[in-house]
Amino acid sequence: MSARNQRLVKVVDALVKDLHEFVLDHRVTEEELRRAMDFLTEVGKNDEMPGLADAFAMTTVADNVTHEEANRSATPSNIEGPFYLADAPSLSPPYRVGRPDEAGDPLVFRGRILDGPSGRPVPTALVDLWQADAVGNYDIQDPGAPAFNLRGRLTARDGTFELRTVVPGAYEIPKNGAVGRLLKQIGRHAFRPRHIHFKISADGWQPLTTQIYFAGDQWIESDSIGAAKPGLVAPLNDREGVLVSE
Ligand code: BEZ
Ligand code: FE
Repeated sequence: MSARNQRLVKVVDALVKDLHEFVLDHRVTEEELRRAMDFLTEVGKNDEMPGLADAFAMTTVADNVTHEEANRSATPSNIEGPFYLADAPSLSPPYRVGRPDEAGDPLVFRGRILDGPSGRPVPTALVDLWQADAVGNYDIQDPGAPAFNLRGRLTARDGTFELRTVVPGAYEIPKNGAVGRLLKQIGRHAFRPRHIHFKISADGWQPLTTQIYFAGDQWIESDSIGAAKPGLVAPLNDREGVLVSE
């Protein structure tokens, strides 16, 4: 048997054992099992499996397992989420994203790209970023938004970059799907704290996919997908009407 099949045998055996224990521990009835299967069938038909894995924080746990080693000595990784688009436009300095009249609180975001173990600046790094607008919608959810709105790729030099944008709004998992309905039934809200996504790459370093959150956010302690981590929270300071995060 190939090494790959052995791994499959091992995880399927373990999963089945855990599922049996779950049914026994919680005295799950035939009727409850049937309803669970109907739910999963609906999730599959609606293409909501990734959303369910997110809502159960499975994606975040798998991300932590995958990047456990690197996360010990660098900015922690964080899930990519469903809204990444490859081929966002390359930006020219001074870097800014969003429409010229983008609604929302103006934000100056200053980032530092450092070598994890030594803390030395990385000379040149490519930063691919994307975020929701001020009301929490990504461009691909909003038919009125220009293509690639609030997205872009920039070059960080000598370990720093500055980006002008607006403070993103809190994203809410759609309530009309099977996953949203389940969250409502179990009394959970569907919000994610405000965040900006980053994919950072540099020759000679491991790439990093992560998100940066803002201190004081209403949803930071109860992210609906359990992805917000303390090591990814940046301050948001009001400097004469402009919010600055660095
Ligand atoms: C997000 O990063 O915006 C996101 C991640 C997972 C599910 C939904 C949204
Ligand atoms: Fe997001």
